[in-house]
Amino acid sequence: MGRPADEAKNGLIGRTLAFVSRSSRRFSRGALVTSGGVAAILFWVGCPLSAAAQPVIPGGDELRALYATPEDVADGKRLAEASCAGCHGANGISTTPGVPHLAAQRPAYLYLELRAYQSGARGDTAMNNAVKFLSDDALSKVAAYYASLDPAPAGATNDATLAKPDPVQAGKTAAAACAGCHGEAGISKMPGTPSLVGLDPQYLVAAMRAYKNGQRKNDMMKSLLATVSDADLNNIALYYALQAAGRAQNPAVGDQAAGKAAAAACAGCHGDQGVSGNPATPSLAGQDAQYLAAALRGYKDGSRTDAAMQAPAAALDDTAIKNLSAYYATQQPEPPKVRKPFTSAEWAQRCDRCHGINGNSTDPRSPALAAQRVEYLEKVLNDYRTGVRRSPAMAAMSAVLTEQDVETLAAHYARQQPRAFVYIIVAPK
Ligand code: HEC
Ligand code: HEC
Ligand code: HEC
Ligand code: HEC
Repeated sequence: MGRPADEAKNGLIGRTLAFVSRSSRRFSRGALVTSGGVAAILFWVGCPLSAAAQPVIPGGDELRALYATPEDVADGKRLAEASCAGCHGANGISTTPGVPHLAAQRPAYLYLELRAYQSGARGDTAMNNAVKFLSDDALSKVAAYYASLDPAPAGATNDATLAKPDPVQAGKTAAAACAGCHGEAGISKMPGTPSLVGLDPQYLVAAMRAYKNGQRKNDMMKSLLATVSDADLNNIALYYALQAAGRAQNPAVGDQAAGKAAAAACAGCHGDQGVSGNPATPSLAGQDAQYLAAALRGYKDGSRTDAAMQAPAAALDDTAIKNLSAYYATQQPEPPKVRKPFTSAEWAQRCDRCHGINGNSTDPRSPALAAQRVEYLEKVLNDYRTGVRRSPAMAAMSAVLTEQDVETLAAHYARQQPRAFVYIIVAPK
């Protein structure tokens, strides 16, 4: 690989321009690069991205330019044909599920990933043996070769668009069947039926699952939920969690002052004034009084079982139950701390900040995603989620992506029109 004299000496600076060409082959004709007359592609070998990485235009300090001559690219091609094409396909276009396209992938990224496989940092994959014995020089040449190829055509993934059903809207639709008893938007007007607002989605989902599997005994709720899918349980819980909280509009008879005194024993779990900070413990504030009393009687007589509630309920007589219920029913409920999750379209905007518009990265270290194989994208996104593959840049994203997000985003990027980029170093004005 040519490592031309100091760029500074040549009067070149590390400022970079990225521009789009329909075919990255223009590289090898040397039409675009003006460094010492070398018909060259340039690529940057850089430090790993920092945790605070923002989309950056690479600067001279972080990245070192290597210049690949047509001979280097030809060497890379020979190596690729002998050692890589069996899996990655002719011209870097893979026909094998799970094996990524490499054609037109960003060169510094390719090089860095090859190093990652060599060091074991990307886990144990089919790649480790393939690169184990390759020299650094060979890695840069094969990276230069793959970067110089035409990209794969955009994948024809299913028609799913980024406009996946909004989970809150889906929850609202599914909850239409519940409004007759639990109230419009989850505030009960029917004594004995609980409000569903002010409760954390985690508790709500657990409660609904418990009805479904019979752990919590209520034949009516069991049959009402029997046909509700797991996805809709989550959507319904999210929908109620995001509604304005309000007290159940039902009477609460009992001595509230006595109830308040007795509630001191409950505050450690259910929070002061019945607003619980723990997603597994239900808030009681504003809940329907008759339902609260029935629940407490259930724990006391064993028809509703819960390890945490057994002892507190056993200690209560019927007067205490009424007083506690009246006290909690009159407290002000609060919505749980839940934020509306990003839609896939909102996610994609964030991904594009590093991966380029529609996944066409303009940072040589960030992989292009456009037209990559859909099942490979899904696999690596899940690898980030589960920690099999680690990257400071991706960590913040991947921890909060849902399975549905991964599926939608992978399909979205796989069908984007890929664009190859050329990076050039320009002389100062
Ligand atoms: C035995 C099949 C096999 C061979 C041979 C092989 N690869 Fe791979 N390669 C894979 C698989 C599978 C993956 C995806 C692994 C993963 O999920 O990390 C991969 C991933 C890669 C990646 C990461 C791409 C990305 O988008 O992150 C690069 C770069 C790569 N291979 C380059 C090469 C090169 C260069 C050679 C030849 C020296 C080669 N591979 C030989 C199967 C192979
Ligand atoms: C016919 C009236 C009725 C309908 C319709 C109904 N529920 Fe219920 N629901 C109840 C009653 C009564 C209870 C209290 C049962 C108990 O004591 O365990 C309850 C309890 C619940 C609870 C437990 C709340 C808590 O604080 O633990 C959840 C969650 C729930 N329902 C969700 C739903 C959802 C979701 C739907 C719609 C798919 C629905 N319900 C439809 C009457 C109804
Ligand atoms: C050790 C922690 C703990 C203490 C103390 C405790 N609770 Fe609970 N409580 C829970 C948990 C956890 C649940 C959810 C159990 C379940 O899923 O059935 C619960 C459920 C309840 C429910 C049912 C709510 C609903 O929406 O269905 C009521 C009512 C209740 N507690 C009242 C009380 C009262 C009154 C006291 C004090 C006398 C008390 N709890 C003390 C942890 C506690
Ligand atoms: C802060 C910048 C940044 C953001 C934001 C970002 N990425 Fe990445 N992404 C990277 C970098 C850098 C890598 C390469 C990391 C590595 O070496 O594992 C990467 C790797 C990937 C890969 C692996 C590609 C391959 O060929 O193996 C996928 C897929 C991916 N990102 C998808 C996404 C998606 C989807 C989002 C949005 C939810 C996203 N990224 C947001 C910087 C970012």
